[in-house]
Amino acid sequence: MREGQAAVIHRTDYQPPAFWIDHVELTFDLDPAKTRVLNKMRVRRNAAVPAQPLRLHGEDLNLARVMVNGAGTSFKMEGAQLVLENLPEGDAPVDLEIFTTCAPAKNTQLMGLYVSQGTFFTQCEAEGFRRITYFLDRPDVMASYTVTLRADKAQYPVLLSNGNLVEQGELDDGRHFAKWVDPHKKPCYLFALVAGKLVAREQKIRTRAGTDHLLQVYVRPGDLGKTEHAMNSLMASIAWDEARFGLPLDLERFMIVATSDFNMGAMENKGLNIFNTKYVLASEATATDADFANIESVVGHEYFHNWTGNRVTCRDWFQLSLKEGLTVFRDQEFSQDLAGDASARAVKRIEDVRVLRTVQFPEDAGPMAHPVRPDSYLEINNFYTVTIYEKGAEVVRMMHNLVGRDGFAQGMKLYFERHDGQAVTCDDFAQAIADANPGSELAQRLDAFKHWYSQAGTPRVQAHGHFDAAARTYTLTLRQSCPATPGQQDKPAFVIPVELGLLSAEGAALPLQLQGEPAAAGSSRTVVLSEPEQQWVFTGIDAVPVPSLLRGFSAPVVLECAYSDQDLLTLLAHDPDPFNRWEAGQRLALRTALAALDNPEVVADAAGHIAAPLLPDAFVQAMRSVLRHPQLDAAFKELVLTLPSETYIAEQRDVVDPQRIHAVREAMRAQLAQALHDDWQWAWEAHENTGGYSPDPISTGRRALAGLALAMLCLSAVRTGNPVWPGKAYQRFKSASNMTDRFNALTALVYSGHELAQPALARFHALFKDEPLVIDKWFALQAGAPDRAGHVLPVVRQLMQHPDFSLKNPNRARSVIFSYCNGNPGAFHRADAGGYVFWSDRVIELDAINPQVAARLARALDRWRKLAEPWRTAAREAIARVAARPDLSNDVREVVTRALND
Ligand code: TRP
Ligand code: ZN
Repeated sequence: MREGQAAVIHRTDYQPPAFWIDHVELTFDLDPAKTRVLNKMRVRRNAAVPAQPLRLHGEDLNLARVMVNGAGTSFKMEGAQLVLENLPEGDAPVDLEIFTTCAPAKNTQLMGLYVSQGTFFTQCEAEGFRRITYFLDRPDVMASYTVTLRADKAQYPVLLSNGNLVEQGELDDGRHFAKWVDPHKKPCYLFALVAGKLVAREQKIRTRAGTDHLLQVYVRPGDLGKTEHAMNSLMASIAWDEARFGLPLDLERFMIVATSDFNMGAMENKGLNIFNTKYVLASEATATDADFANIESVVGHEYFHNWTGNRVTCRDWFQLSLKEGLTVFRDQEFSQDLAGDASARAVKRIEDVRVLRTVQFPEDAGPMAHPVRPDSYLEINNFYTVTIYEKGAEVVRMMHNLVGRDGFAQGMKLYFERHDGQAVTCDDFAQAIADANPGSELAQRLDAFKHWYSQAGTPRVQAHGHFDAAARTYTLTLRQSCPATPGQQDKPAFVIPVELGLLSAEGAALPLQLQGEPAAAGSSRTVVLSEPEQQWVFTGIDAVPVPSLLRGFSAPVVLECAYSDQDLLTLLAHDPDPFNRWEAGQRLALRTALAALDNPEVVADAAGHIAAPLLPDAFVQAMRSVLRHPQLDAAFKELVLTLPSETYIAEQRDVVDPQRIHAVREAMRAQLAQALHDDWQWAWEAHENTGGYSPDPISTGRRALAGLALAMLCLSAVRTGNPVWPGKAYQRFKSASNMTDRFNALTALVYSGHELAQPALARFHALFKDEPLVIDKWFALQAGAPDRAGHVLPVVRQLMQHPDFSLKNPNRARSVIFSYCNGNPGAFHRADAGGYVFWSDRVIELDAINPQVAARLARALDRWRKLAEPWRTAAREAIARVAARPDLSNDVREVVTRALND
């Protein structure tokens, strides 16, 4: 099954292609067992490079015929490559015809052409096109495509590919055909076809420019009622890209198709986006507010790729963040702009930063750490990471903030003027933004700024303030450093924009005047730290101020500042920057957690419970004030009242005892539940009536806060034995009119460990047995539940025996296995190593089915080196056990090898 061990690929080895492929004509005879693919290409030598043989990529293909200019030709195979040595010399175009077959029904990797529930789909990014036909499968080779699909009409009534439908008709034997022409040249990773029994929601639109377009969302019959939100999101995306960036829809027809078997979230194939059903289908009865929000942002993300990724693409896969970082930035901005007011924007920002810090920061500190523009890889699929995506988006966001919103729009305009239709690099992007903004901080320091692209690791910024009463000055010193990462020791300084303000002890925003400035200007500004250490002197300061640093999380760094508890309470109560207001609460909670972890007097009983109150009264009081605050939005309150995750706490430690972290955080949660009991009751009563369902920020916030209140009330009820709140939660679970409220109530019962959880789970399954996406939630909830006396692992093993479980369906595998191994540290890190043994078995099992999914699971133990004993040794043994397998995919091999060599 494995085609030999591949070698590491280096960015600096990039060579332009020896040939161009100008045009491709593909004809598919679709059959699940054996699909025939006729590929007629017009190829031409690239005059810019020395003459050499044509080497075409291929994988898992059966080759039947090769013809050059209509006649047979000699060729040879070198590994998986098809090599043509005797092509005519000179730069005249050559007609190359290749006939192959493949077996879509056997394609469990879900890369290339595969079958999902009787429908054909393709996934070509990054290197899946070579599993469909022999080709120059690299993004800098751009061709125009004409595609003819032929298939049985009864079984495959809908035949789709990129571009416009130019012809369709009947064939013999009940077959039919459709011919599609894509008016845009594209790299082959953007090719797509779909064939099956599907229905579409359609929408005709006229854009600002007055052009007409047909939008379609294709799903399985029966799912049409769940496509309205996706269609609305698509229309909003089109309007937004035109309004904010002047980027119009360049296609007559734009299609989205949903499939339940998909390795990732969605794929931006030109004019024919293919989506995981999870990011398309939603109704208030089956999808939560989070699902609605994710659909909006993923639909936006894929649509925005139409310009950032498709019109301008990547020269090579090392430049992946060129399209992904930029497009994540765009989808984040889209969601913020749709959210509306400052508070809702901040909520979105906090959610994004939370992902960055709990997932990307650990990646950047672990064995898979890599720069936003990596230098090497073994398997490109392993580099679709939070670093490329989320940190990449932060890099774009810093540029945006350094040149301003309008300056950034000018930079984007220049980027498209220069590079439309090209395959380019991250350097080209940064250059365009800088060139459009001469004199900006970015233009002045572009080379140093680009360290964000080349250097891995999360920089640390240490802040120190000094107040001089006589001089009435406040001197802020910022120092930066960056920990070593694989292959990178001492790193030159980063360019770090630090947005800041100063507050008086009473919480008033102070006017800011730097030494040398004629007058104070505003109460918030951005200073740029570009040296290892720099100072800023603020004048006209009458008393020790409280600095509010890194507002809005203006750079992806760890900020260390010796705040007193009182400073943080002041920021939590008064910071005009909502991000830092939230951050102050998180810092206070984190401080308590870290102190408890280090305190030998804090001990857990045999059941893992810590009885002593850990949170200081002042913190509890501050949380009460936020919860009861008359002006703050419910969504923001919910974020403030949620403690930092176990993963985030673990990241702050050099040595991690996952059980102790779990016990400490649970004790803090229990204390908040009990100490604020009456406040939670008030919050529930004030927010539980969420009215008619709409996924807008206000009602979403109400549901979120009511859900947290119910969870807290159930938690304290279980401790006191009071049956009232679990009873109410069960009522709510039964009678809720939307999935958010229903699932929150179910979660409150399951997480509190109340006996009503079991009947509720059974009822939930019976209600939603025909809704795969809801059944995924049912699995995930149980696999992610807080561990009580080690009960979760046996539950997970049982869930895998459930008739609804399947390892082959990525969503289902993720719902059980990933929820346990990646999402439930307290249950996964068992002292008996049972969790790790389970993990290694599943990695090995999954690798034979789907290496991409297996490699993601393989990363669950990335941070093994930080673990305390006995976990550390047990984790290393589990990884070694996987690594010892002789037949691993490159995907998994790269992950476990790096983990062991770390
Ligand atoms: N380009 C896709 C996106 O971010 C990512 C993607 C979808 C992908 N499917 C994939 C990447 C399969 C690798 C393999 O929008
Ligand atoms: Zn993307």
